[in-house]
Amino acid sequence: MCGIIARVGEGNAVDRVITGLDNLEYRGYDSAGIALQNGTGVSVSKCSGEVEELKQNIRGDRLAGNIGIGHTRWSTHGPPTDENAHPHTNGDGTIAVVHNGIIENHAELRERLRSQGVEFESDTDTEVIPHLIDHYYATCDDPKVAFTRAISELEGSYAVVVMFEDYDAVYGARQGSPLVLGVGDDQYFLASDVPAFLEYTDRVVYFEDGDVVVARPHGVTVTTADGEPVNRPIESVDWDPEETGKGAYDHYMLKEIESQPSALSNSIRGRINDSNDGVDVDVFDPSTLADVREVQFIACGTSYHAAMYASTVLNRTGIRARAFRASEYQLSSDPVTTDTLVVAVTQSGETADTLGAMERAADEGAKLLTVTNVVGSSAARAADDTLFIHAGPEIGVAATKTFSSQAVTLSLLAQHLAEHIEDGTPVPNLPAVLDAVQTLPSDIEQIINTTRAAALANHYLNSEAYFFIGRELGHPVAQEAALKFKEITYEHAEGFASGELKHGPLALVTPRTPVFAIFTGLHDEKTLKNAKEAQTRGADIVAVAPAGHPAVSETDAHLPIPDTHPMWAGLLANVQLQLLSYHAADALGRSIDKPRNLAKSVTVE
Ligand code: G6P
Repeated sequence: MCGIIARVGEGNAVDRVITGLDNLEYRGYDSAGIALQNGTGVSVSKCSGEVEELKQNIRGDRLAGNIGIGHTRWSTHGPPTDENAHPHTNGDGTIAVVHNGIIENHAELRERLRSQGVEFESDTDTEVIPHLIDHYYATCDDPKVAFTRAISELEGSYAVVVMFEDYDAVYGARQGSPLVLGVGDDQYFLASDVPAFLEYTDRVVYFEDGDVVVARPHGVTVTTADGEPVNRPIESVDWDPEETGKGAYDHYMLKEIESQPSALSNSIRGRINDSNDGVDVDVFDPSTLADVREVQFIACGTSYHAAMYASTVLNRTGIRARAFRASEYQLSSDPVTTDTLVVAVTQSGETADTLGAMERAADEGAKLLTVTNVVGSSAARAADDTLFIHAGPEIGVAATKTFSSQAVTLSLLAQHLAEHIEDGTPVPNLPAVLDAVQTLPSDIEQIINTTRAAALANHYLNSEAYFFIGRELGHPVAQEAALKFKEITYEHAEGFASGELKHGPLALVTPRTPVFAIFTGLHDEKTLKNAKEAQTRGADIVAVAPAGHPAVSETDAHLPIPDTHPMWAGLLANVQLQLLSYHAADALGRSIDKPRNLAKSVTVE
């Protein structure tokens, strides 16, 4: 988490750095700051709060500089105060630093620097960096040498960018946290992620851990820390800059919910064969899959729910599959062998828990696949192969379109594995399943055009709690719906396997706890029975089901979904429930795109 941006080139950097911060705010919004350099010194402006507050603070300040760095923070060391906001500087303010990651040996470095007379102004781990650079700069008078010596002392993870008062350049490095270069016509950007500069260029260079980059207005060099040149190719990204803006929408989240038809079309495109009886998913040489004995999915948050979905689909093909929470997987003693295929599911490709779990899988010799939305991300580069979900950039902190795209991409992957793993048999009724997946975009369009989720959200506003239940493929959807609801409304919400309700959660059920029951077309009688057990205790039951479904007449309210194959009904239900969460949060006046305490890309364990 935390977003960093730097811009070097001709003309004033201010607007471009601020645009970058706006586009990176999904990575954290506890504080924001900018530093500028125009050959006559470094000026820093920073404050706690969102980028909007920084903009208000600097309005009318006539800031100028052709080189700028900026930062938006998700606090780890020290509360979200003005002092703890980045950029951080050395004692006389001639070196400014922005950093994403965690410096694990910061306490030891701080002590050493203190004993040399350095005074610290913040509680952050980051502040040791400008002081360390300053220390080396005093002895060598070479900014790059000072920078590389300083970072060689850092333990932990970092993407760090530095500017010096009297050098027309920025210096950057990465170790475990993302940093990419944007190559413009007359300018360069260094940033945590591509959306930061997508309005200005779609030409990108991805760095590897250990790379050191120096960007000047008219050129960039990349070397190892020892100064050996490294060659990193320029790649083009196919994201549309419009996808990083809000357009006419009040919130990214609604825009992203409503862009699911096109996101899903992109996820599906080219992955189903013309006769609808097989998939064309390009991962691994088929011969390397034959001896796979188990598939283990590792993921966090919403991606974990997509992984649960996928493991259920895969189990239907006779292949043993399990979904693990990545943070637990690292510590677990569940056997992982060379016959295990480990699939890391991560929208951003930068989640520290997932990267840690991948390390364990790699150490044990597993085959490693990443399913992600972000080309060039750490998870994409750490795996043996990668499958992209092609959902386009997602800015709202609450994941929406990426969940749908993950679930569909992973389900197509499941069929691909079933075709090549010895133990696998095809997904049952494959042509019907593949036929139905291709109508999902228009099904979702129909939901968006007809939904009554806003009215229902208002009707149940200020309830005591909100429960979501479903069975089999409805279960991950129930959990995802509850996660979405709690993330953005701050209300108590839980998702359960329907059958579990009676084993404890029923104690929480009152007339003020609506229960949203997801009917996928499989095991629906049982889900209805469980819902009725809650209804008997006074709860209102909302059926998320096709019109005419038997549950509709037996429940208190209805969120309709188009008829589809049971493999996909849960995903349609999820869209209605995303809209429910959105409208409830909107009615409660919540910060929908930037919910309190959360960040989209969590790069700390
Ligand atoms: C954070 C986000 C969640 C996301 C999770 C995993 O917690 O707030 O929305 O699901 O990270 O992110 P990933 O990028 O790995 O899918």
